[in-house]
Amino acid sequence: MRVLSGIQPSGRLHIGNFFGAMSHQLKLQAENECFYFIADYHALTSNPSPDEIAQNILDVAIDYIALGLDTDKTVFWRQSDVPEVTELTWLLSCITPMGLLQRCTSYKDKVSQGFSPNHGLFAYPVLQAADILIFNSEIVPVGADQKQHIEVARDIAIKFNSTYGEILTLPEDYIIESVAVVPGLDGRKMSKSYGNAIEIFEPEDSIEKKIMRIVTDSTSVEEPKDPDKCNVFALLKLLASPDELAEWENRYRSGGMGYGQVKKRLAELMIEYFRPFRKKRTELENNIDYVKKMLADGARRAKAVAAETLARARNAVGLGR
Ligand code: ADP
Ligand code: TRP
Repeated sequence: MRVLSGIQPSGRLHIGNFFGAMSHQLKLQAENECFYFIADYHALTSNPSPDEIAQNILDVAIDYIALGLDTDKTVFWRQSDVPEVTELTWLLSCITPMGLLQRCTSYKDKVSQGFSPNHGLFAYPVLQAADILIFNSEIVPVGADQKQHIEVARDIAIKFNSTYGEILTLPEDYIIESVAVVPGLDGRKMSKSYGNAIEIFEPEDSIEKKIMRIVTDSTSVEEPKDPDKCNVFALLKLLASPDELAEWENRYRSGGMGYGQVKKRLAELMIEYFRPFRKKRTELENNIDYVKKMLADGARRAKAVAAETLARARNAVGLGR
């Protein structure tokens, strides 16, 4: 299957990104033809400074490769290195009803969070549709928050095909059979915009300190506790073996356990889990030219596919004949 997904370079990746999206994307590499990219055009909609976006692009690239993205197999590139996608965006824009975009919740959400209400932010789903459609994607693994954008991509493809002929492939299947939303330190969804995230590659002692700060209820050590209502337990579920998890569940329910104990163990597990990737990350950080070469190679492979779809779409609408 042709699998495609994008990630915005809007800051260092966190545990929520990893368990909510990346780990699934990385697993899909084994049996599919994966196309993964760094959505830098999309990130511009929130007006980062030039230095900030440039740094974030490289950081995301390094994080993905360090965590197991296999650039021999998977096509991995920077969105803006394949500008064909912006031309397809225009062709799609001209058949996209305003009402379809007005119904998208992400624009309103972002504006209410204080982002500038620019046209790029409003048209964001059309660019995302072009990303998906230009690579003939069949599966688009994303978190549940992106469901509406995938549906918009399908709607746009249907409209385009019914107007101009069967040019675009509809993405078949999409949402990651979702793990629950990963909670942040304060119990809300972990997100870089809430300041409650644990970054995958922040220093190990800082990970430990953050874990010790996770909000828990005020039950005393002796009292029994409900694991299903505990943010620490929700994170432990992502990392502990089934046997160990069952043991902790028992300790929660029987009382006599303090939250400090389970937090210590969670910190150990998290640090151990990411340690091998951390080593790889440091190597890549010291070899940025290699990372850039991988991205350039990915762009070349992506461009070949994109140019082909774009040529068909241009011809279908009557351009360049
Ligand atoms: P953020 O909320 O930090 O800005 P993004 O919106 O850039 O994160 O998310 C990138 C990907 O990671 C998306 O596919 C999203 O579904 C997933 N993701 C982000 N935060 C979480 C979370 N707390 N739990 C599960 N998945 C998440
Ligand atoms: N909007 C996605 C997000 O914020 C990123 C993205 C851009 C994307 N283009 C895409 C995801 C195409 C999947 C397919 O997470």
